Amino acid sequence: MNKVGPFQAWIAENSLRVHQGLLYYLENISYPAPRLQESMAYAALSGGKRIRPLLIYATGKIFDAPLENLDLAALAIELIHSYSLVHDDLPAMDNAEWRRGQLTCFKAFGEDLAILAGDALQALAFEIIATHPAPLTATKRLQMVQVLSRASGPCGMVSGQALDIFNTAEASLAENELLQMYQLKTGALIEASIHLGLCAASVKSPQQQKALESYAEKVSLGFQIQDDLLDMEGKKEAIGKSTGLDEALKKATYPRLVGLEAAKKKMEKLFQQAFDALEPLGPQADFLRQLTEYVGKRDR
Ligand code: IPE
Ligand code: IPE
Ligand code: MG
Ligand code: MG
Ligand code: MG
Repeated sequence: MNKVGPFQAWIAENSLRVHQGLLYYLENISYPAPRLQESMAYAALSGGKRIRPLLIYATGKIFDAPLENLDLAALAIELIHSYSLVHDDLPAMDNAEWRRGQLTCFKAFGEDLAILAGDALQALAFEIIATHPAPLTATKRLQMVQVLSRASGPCGMVSGQALDIFNTAEASLAENELLQMYQLKTGALIEASIHLGLCAASVKSPQQQKALESYAEKVSLGFQIQDDLLDMEGKKEAIGKSTGLDEALKKATYPRLVGLEAAKKKMEKLFQQAFDALEPLGPQADFLRQLTEYVGKRDR
């Protein structure tokens, strides 16, 4: 019999917590446009890995932050991420057919509703930070809005996506330019997850913050290189989304720039550096360590 360890149980509990929170906002509440609501629920309730919320919970755990003070940030970031995927899959962007084990939102609901579903998921994220019943002060909520809006807007994810549009093989970006684009399109939201976990912590030392910032920088770059490798080598059935798109779209990616083996080495090094950055945080960071290993070792 397979014994479920504390980490597996922690992932299951917290993923369920996110799912139930999303269910509340996407199914229990009724919005005036039922088909829009269906498309939002379709995009956000389907099986994502919930890595960003899990990073928030694992960071909050280091500081014993109460779960209810992390929930709003966990829900908000997952909604922003889900919106980014819905728009990323649109015909005008990556034109993808599969996402999270099902047809992409635009394939299932049409481009018009998919655009609006993305818009609505984004606004709902900020509404949740403002109105969630967690016992958090207005100042803390404002801090969360600052972190999330900065990471998702023109200083973060959306700019990364815009740079990615022009990132073709012919554009021949240098390695540092490519990595800067990764930091924006993917890294910003992952780094924001760590910052949001920190926002909910009442006491934190500059050393702890510094360790987590360095962790966030490494893990987020490792994550996008891994995503590129999965696009090249992964199976749609295993990763739940279309593969081979980067090649079809003639995207320059890190593995295409430096070669498959060098990219794998770089990814492993980044995950190892992320793991090492957690050293000063002691045993309270054990779930974050295990989460890093879990993310770093995803199957292709
Ligand atoms: C995919 O993110 C898109 C990237 C930013 C690389 P995830 O791999 O976290 O996607 P889900 O949430 O599990 O579907
Ligand atoms: C997208 O990067 C990152 C987002 C901001 C959504 P990709 O286009 O590589 O993500 P996937 O491979 O479609 O998940
Ligand atoms: Mg894309
Ligand atoms: Mg894509
Ligand atoms: Mg990809």
